Amino acid sequence: MGRKAPIDLGERGKLSPYNKLNNLTGKEWIKFTKSWFHLNPKARKDNEILHPAKYPESLAQQFIEFFSKKGDWIFDPFLGTASTLIAAGDCERNGVGIEITKKYMKISKDRIKEGNYKTELKPLLGSSLNIKKVFDKNKIIDKVFDCTVTSPPYWNQLERASMRQKGRADKGLDTKYSNAKGDIGNIDDYKKFVETQAKIFDQVYDITKDKGYLIIITNNVFFDGRVYPLAFDTATSLTNRGEKSWVLKDEKIWLQNDKPLIALGVNHAWVGNRHHQYCLILRKEK
Ligand SMILES: C[S@@+](CC[C@H](N)C(=O)[O-])C[C@H]1O[C@@H](n2cnc3c(N)ncnc32)[C@H](O)[C@@H]1O
Repeated sequence: MGRKAPIDLGERGKLSPYNKLNNLTGKEWIKFTKSWFHLNPKARKDNEILHPAKYPESLAQQFIEFFSKKGDWIFDPFLGTASTLIAAGDCERNGVGIEITKKYMKISKDRIKEGNYKTELKPLLGSSLNIKKVFDKNKIIDKVFDCTVTSPPYWNQLERASMRQKGRADKGLDTKYSNAKGDIGNIDDYKKFVETQAKIFDQVYDITKDKGYLIIITNNVFFDGRVYPLAFDTATSLTNRGEKSWVLKDEKIWLQNDKPLIALGVNHAWVGNRHHQYCLILRKEK
């Protein structure tokens, strides 16, 4: 019989030498296992506001800190303004991210330069529809990642002029990512979007270590009088990919308590104010 690892609840902030996954104490570990959370993100700077769907660094950081150790490698195939890489740098991880839109790549590079990080952070311009091509071009050979934290476009949701988007348009801010052919936020057919997204995560599977995690921030989408269950279809599609099937471990729900309520469907029919997002937790288990 092997020696049994004692359960260390980290009452005194002690790190357990038996912890295989992260650098958290037992107490910090348990705290994170709650199925929902709030955030109090810092106000966004001017160049960050331009991007229509940036997530807070603190969102990415809590997942990176749980699903990797210091010095590990983090990946983001939909980098946007580099929130994942900034979070990785802030907690001493290395990272690679791919972004298709030039202006967001410039913001990413500026932010990383400004942060003066000690770890390696590589924002790469290109399309995650062919991750190998982007890696080869940047001489990233045989890299294996410990964890991916990412948020893909929520289908073509941004293209549709919603009331929230109107406010951004009036201020001259971007209301869609780009017109690029490979930008998956421009795919109008829902089924095609879900399948294309899954093909990108097949490639993420190939560059993830065995037992490595994939965290996807996404949501269900209301369009044309009905909900398209994108978060649920994302989970289902990624867990039915033959030998590249991810194992769905859980979802955590990000409750957004800081968004204004909008008068949707009042006196007419149900339209919800969607003030939460899904964080899907998947794992590669060969
Ligand atoms: C939801 S946003 C990610 C935001 C990011 N997490 C942040 O905090 O800034 C999705 C991003 O995916 C990018 N994108 C869309 N299709 C892509 C593709 N094929 N390859 C790489 N990036 C893509 C979009 O330009 C957009 O910036």
